[in-house]
Amino acid sequence: MASPLRFDGRVVLVTGAGGGLGRAYALAFAERGASVVVNDLGGDFRGVGKGSSAADKVVEEIRSKGGKAMANYDSVEAGEKVVKTALDAFGRIDVVVNNAGILRDGSFARISDEDWDIIHRVHLRGSFQVTRAAWDHMKKQKFGRIIMTSSASGIYGNFGQANYSAAKLGLLGLSNTIALEGKKSNIHCNTIAPTAGSRMTQTVMPEDLLETLKPDYVAPLVLWLCHESCEENGGLFEVGGGWIGKLRWERSLGAIVRQKNQPMTPEGVKANWKKICDFENATKPQRIQESVGSIIGVISKIDSDGGVSTNHTSHAASTAPSGFAGAIGYKFPPFSSAYTELETIMYALGVGASVKEPKDMKFIYEGSSDFSCLPTFGVIIAQRPLVRGGLGEVPDLPVSLEKVLHGEQYLELYKPLPRSGNLKCEAVIADVLDKGSGLVILMDVYSYFEKELICYNQFSLFLVGSGGIGGKRTSDKVKEAVAVPNRPPDAVLTDVTSLNQAALYRLSGDWNPLHIDPNFSSFAGFDKPILHGLCTFGFSARHVLQKFADNDVSRFKAIKVRFSKPVYPGQTIKTEMWKEGNRIHFQTKIHETGDIVISNAYVDLVPASGISAKTSSAREELQSTLVFEEIGRRLGDIGREVVKKVDAVFEWHITKGGDTAAKWTIDLKNGSGKVYQGPAVGSADTTFTLSDEDFMEVVLGKLDPQKAFFSGRLKARGNILLSQKLQMILKDYAKL
Ligand code: NAI
Repeated sequence: MASPLRFDGRVVLVTGAGGGLGRAYALAFAERGASVVVNDLGGDFRGVGKGSSAADKVVEEIRSKGGKAMANYDSVEAGEKVVKTALDAFGRIDVVVNNAGILRDGSFARISDEDWDIIHRVHLRGSFQVTRAAWDHMKKQKFGRIIMTSSASGIYGNFGQANYSAAKLGLLGLSNTIALEGKKSNIHCNTIAPTAGSRMTQTVMPEDLLETLKPDYVAPLVLWLCHESCEENGGLFEVGGGWIGKLRWERSLGAIVRQKNQPMTPEGVKANWKKICDFENATKPQRIQESVGSIIGVISKIDSDGGVSTNHTSHAASTAPSGFAGAIGYKFPPFSSAYTELETIMYALGVGASVKEPKDMKFIYEGSSDFSCLPTFGVIIAQRPLVRGGLGEVPDLPVSLEKVLHGEQYLELYKPLPRSGNLKCEAVIADVLDKGSGLVILMDVYSYFEKELICYNQFSLFLVGSGGIGGKRTSDKVKEAVAVPNRPPDAVLTDVTSLNQAALYRLSGDWNPLHIDPNFSSFAGFDKPILHGLCTFGFSARHVLQKFADNDVSRFKAIKVRFSKPVYPGQTIKTEMWKEGNRIHFQTKIHETGDIVISNAYVDLVPASGISAKTSSAREELQSTLVFEEIGRRLGDIGREVVKKVDAVFEWHITKGGDTAAKWTIDLKNGSGKVYQGPAVGSADTTFTLSDEDFMEVVLGKLDPQKAFFSGRLKARGNILLSQKLQMILKDYAKL
């Protein structure tokens, strides 16, 4: 037999314990070792009068059986005094059973202000006062168990009890919030709706039924809920006659009755009424974020460009739970991701690139000669279907958006991402797996630059609680995570995130308020806003690139991660890395806590030898190099003269195959002029970007620079008028 549930050393306060249910609780707690405060005002069932005998009698009864008890005769409205009795007599308070109650029944229209108020004062305000007086003591000792007493009258309504119903259901609301606020301190609060024979019910129940519905058949539930081993928190239970059942909320899938740029009308509501009230496939939301989250999901769905299909919800509702036939292979509408150097830099800053680290300059300063886009920016390009709530559009997926977790991520690059560009993306649901506790959705996104596939993403999304419906568990489409080697890491890099890290990272496109709004994050059950998982991912990938590829983005091939825990902005990200050939295994920890936040991860690198051969040959191939070098030599003779005439610094970005292959500066402003490779020291007056081939055509006089500018082949930034002077100089050199 299981060992008996004991309360030795615990101090239990039961309000209204002079009779009925309260008395049964007090006796039961005392019998199992608790020291009990028996509170009772001692009035009649309408709350008229007072006296000490009710409480005294129960105290006597307990003591006569060898138990410990102390009486208190205050009204629960004086909560501090009631709790003080426990502290004075026994030195602590562990359990509060809010049970005291009265009735002032009458049909709704006849309820007087006084009858309304006294019911609320005794039931709702009294429970608040007593619980608040005990709260800080419970918090300090990191233990507390609280019971609120509601009623079927409140849950379902009951003729003649409008005042009582309102107060009783108010207690449930109170309990719901206390349960959330107390959880961290091991303070649990549960609500019961009892049915028992007592003086309160004797006028409405037949005598033999009163006999059967003994208060003793309610007490065991109260004792269990108040025991230290009971983890239940925030529950609502109906109990009576030896039966106990738990209640919860159910919510229909509902219908979206608004469409983008169209008014929402009562007619629209009427047309969807059946759907709104249809409980088939209903969800059972348990937390407020499941409510708020789905509404936010709906808003972003409505506001996303395609608007909303009014049939969407019915489509999902008609889904047979046995398969995802319509989901697997579902293609999202193609979308394009345009970005400039601004986004590239903002992303790099968001994942911790910093001026503190000279080698990071290439990621955050567009004027760097080797300015590059961080490879992991590839996820930003592809994430649109997720951040815009597009998952809700997928047919045959029981998606409750607030329950979607980002489980894993795979990213592969086929060539370095351009520093700016407009990529075309195609997203598809590659597969759906049933893991029992939830569904895993594999969303593959292919991104093309000028028709060439340059990156591929696989987002693994976990839908909590939607699994267990008999789907397959594995798929050959999965990009598998790989365990890290079982030896100390070969390298470890750390970075302290800033308190603004999530605020900065979200500018790259993931606007989920979970990462910035404290109210939202507390709805989601976090102490404060959390960092984006993909931000931590970016930090770690940067660490690997820095440590094993000297920040050379052309060496980055692929990355796979599994997200296991959130990071809070301000914490230190620590990446532990193991080199095995061209694969760098890694895991990411929070330095302060040791928690693993990214596990089973790796980065695949392109072998160093292949790359250097490629880049150096690309550089050698540039024809413009010879021209710049020659201009430099010529300046030696006539520099001063030219500087007087031109008085400007020109920077050149020479591209090859769409990427910047070289940067040159022609300084015709300072001294006797200078030509050098790399961005302008200080700042350039005008920056030109054009391909190596076009540069040569301009130099050779075959391409008019102005025409090249208007046709988009030559891009100019800064003081464009100065290009007139440049044209003159270049023409001179064309004779070379
Ligand atoms: P009861 O009338 O036997 O017990 C209530 C006790 O509370 C009384 O001893 C009374 O003196 C005390 N009390 C009243 N006002 C007080 C105040 N201001 N301060 C301190 N003590 C005060 O009734 P019963 O049935 O045992 O009810 C206990 C609780 O269960 C009540 O909250 C009641 O609303 C609730 N309840 C009972 C149901 C039942 O079937 N018995 C059904 C649903 C709820």
